[in-house]
Amino acid sequence: MRRLDELAQFSSRNGEITRLYLTPEHRAAALKVREWMQAAGMRAEIDAVGNVIGRYDGTTLNARSVLIGSHVDTVTNGGKYDGSLGVLTGIHAVAELHAKGLRLPFAIEVLAFGDEEGVRFSRTLTGSKAVAGILEDADLDAADSAGITIRDALTRFGCDPLEIPRISRRKEDVLCYIEVHIEQGPVLESAGLPIGVITAINGATRFKVEVAGTSGHAGTVPMNVRQDALAAAAEMVLAAERLAQQTEDLVATTGCIEIRPGVVNVIAPSVGFNIDVRSSKDDVRQNTVAALQDSFQAIARRRRVAVTTEGFYDEAAVTCSSWLVKALEAAVARLNLRPYRLPSGGGHDGLAISSLCPIGMLFVRCAGGVSHNPAEAITADDADLAIRVLLEFLQHFEPDDAVSGIREA
Ligand code: CO
Repeated sequence: MRRLDELAQFSSRNGEITRLYLTPEHRAAALKVREWMQAAGMRAEIDAVGNVIGRYDGTTLNARSVLIGSHVDTVTNGGKYDGSLGVLTGIHAVAELHAKGLRLPFAIEVLAFGDEEGVRFSRTLTGSKAVAGILEDADLDAADSAGITIRDALTRFGCDPLEIPRISRRKEDVLCYIEVHIEQGPVLESAGLPIGVITAINGATRFKVEVAGTSGHAGTVPMNVRQDALAAAAEMVLAAERLAQQTEDLVATTGCIEIRPGVVNVIAPSVGFNIDVRSSKDDVRQNTVAALQDSFQAIARRRRVAVTTEGFYDEAAVTCSSWLVKALEAAVARLNLRPYRLPSGGGHDGLAISSLCPIGMLFVRCAGGVSHNPAEAITADDADLAIRVLLEFLQHFEPDDAVSGIREA
């Protein structure tokens, strides 16, 4: 908990936790994490895409690895635990093994990914995609609001973007990936449980909606001839909310809207807003997105405004491996806790890593389900339990199970 407080100090703004990918505060945090990894008995380095990777060797040299990871970037004005908890629990689990002089029949690697939130470059999962070997060279051309590309920012960070292809892992070198993360929702707290085992990570689609109407004087244009882009957009936002309420296992959100020119006595001629749609079922998500686009067209026709939609993000849902779900549940049960399964509404680095190896995830209860917010809070006891579950899992993990588990799946 002290280290998580310490990590929170690496921020671009005083009194906030804002640590975006490839910024000086990200670099400072990465160096601190590397130091902690080394103190826990790992060899650690910052890789070509800005991830920190620590390795704790197994009983044999070149043994395959269990990966434990999460991210050290934050959203703007985020919390102390989102991402960082998963990195710190991994480091502390290894520190515990190291302190006891224990080596396991596999290596453990702790990964602190640099870019999960995607705030700076509007690209998510850059670090984990590179490790999974699915980061494309063109992804490095994404630029931040100042026009700096990921490629340039990497060079300034001290990384060599040309080396990125070399950090991708071979499937035969890794056994599985485990991520501990705060729940970022209220389910575990209301169930009175500290730890949950994740079954799937919801897929997500985000799209931009532009509504074009006609500007007019708020006092002189009669109501029946208006082409009010904002009123149309409002109806669209509510239509999305209603459809999501009526659809099982799906959520839809409008979190930002831009009204132009945004003047009190002018009928808005132009409005842009975004919609974020998530579900653990890809077909449900895709059908809903199509239905929303149809309904926006209908609203626009009726209100005599124009509407265009443009998708800018699409991630399929990912299922956690059933044998890992069972192994994590068994670890939870050995600590006399009730195993509890839930899906993850948020995206995580495991999404990218799932194309490399089987993934499993643990959620840790967080106060009020609050996240992406400085009020994010967990207890030291719950963090401790997460480390114990990891240790239970690791100490009962047989590399051969992974191989047969993969075959079963
Ligand atoms: Co996170």
